[in-house]
Amino acid sequence: MDLRDEIIEGFKKSNEYRRLPKRVERQLNLKTNQYKNDDFGIEIRYNLIKNKLLNSGIKSVVDLGGKSGFFSIQMLDENIISRACVYDVSSNALKFGNKIAKYLGLENEINFIEKKLSIDNINNIPNADVVLCLNLIHHAGVFFDIDLVGERGWAEYAVDFLKILRKKYRIAAVSVGFKGKKPVNWLIPNRLRPVYFNKIANKAGWKVVYDANVGDLSLFGEKIACGRRTKKTPYILSLEIIYRFMGYNIVNKISKTIEKLNPKKIDNEKLSKYHIFILK
Ligand SMILES: C[S@@+](CC[C@H](N)C(=O)[O-])C[C@H]1O[C@@H](n2cnc3c(N)ncnc32)[C@H](O)[C@@H]1O
Repeated sequence: MDLRDEIIEGFKKSNEYRRLPKRVERQLNLKTNQYKNDDFGIEIRYNLIKNKLLNSGIKSVVDLGGKSGFFSIQMLDENIISRACVYDVSSNALKFGNKIAKYLGLENEINFIEKKLSIDNINNIPNADVVLCLNLIHHAGVFFDIDLVGERGWAEYAVDFLKILRKKYRIAAVSVGFKGKKPVNWLIPNRLRPVYFNKIANKAGWKVVYDANVGDLSLFGEKIACGRRTKKTPYILSLEIIYRFMGYNIVNKISKTIEKLNPKKIDNEKLSKYHIFILK
């Protein structure tokens, strides 16, 4: 089976490779969009990260939970970086990424490493200019570090996780799913979650230089989406006060009711579950 057929089979059967780098799409005359919806906003997040990292003098990236390494491969292929290291627990995803990197002649610039990451071993990951931690940390407490998140709660856990990254990396791109019951053991009302994640990042020693909801990014673009859900508006400040004095359920109820009443409400339901933060 040639690579094109193999990729099409892979798209149909598994979830291991969700986007193809642009050059692969061109050379194999194969559009990812024909086979996969970008339900996780991979391209939107990629473009944001690229725009925020351009001209910041970066050379190397470590990608935690990087699946098949789309972000790293595409950045290498656009000469934004010259070195990348992708960690994931899924050997199939990594194998696929390796194949794509070889096809593009990038195999000497990227390593794919199979490892189950946890707060106990991220300190041993190599240093780099940038760490990508994209759609990984909201799985803590379910797929990894289950006991720790159970005992300490997700907020304290996430502060410690980000503190370790702070010591090793100059810049971090972190995307987080605030959806359903995830992150577990973090009783923060839905509407306030991005705001409280900013507090977590600050406590860990990071400065949040950009943040946006991924749904907002797709609808409004980078400028308008920036801080749209984390700005200290009177609405957000009131929700924070109500949360402090009256608790989680009441804030969830109030915010849902108010947002339903808003006739101008525009939302991209799937993508709006994800938020991206650029930390320095
Ligand atoms: C939701 S996907 C995100 C993929 C990519 N980073 C993105 O944002 O599109 C989460 C990835 O993390 C990996 N993963 C989950 N737990 C992990 C762990 N403890 N160590 C390493 N990888 C893990 C999964 O195999 C999966 O590839």
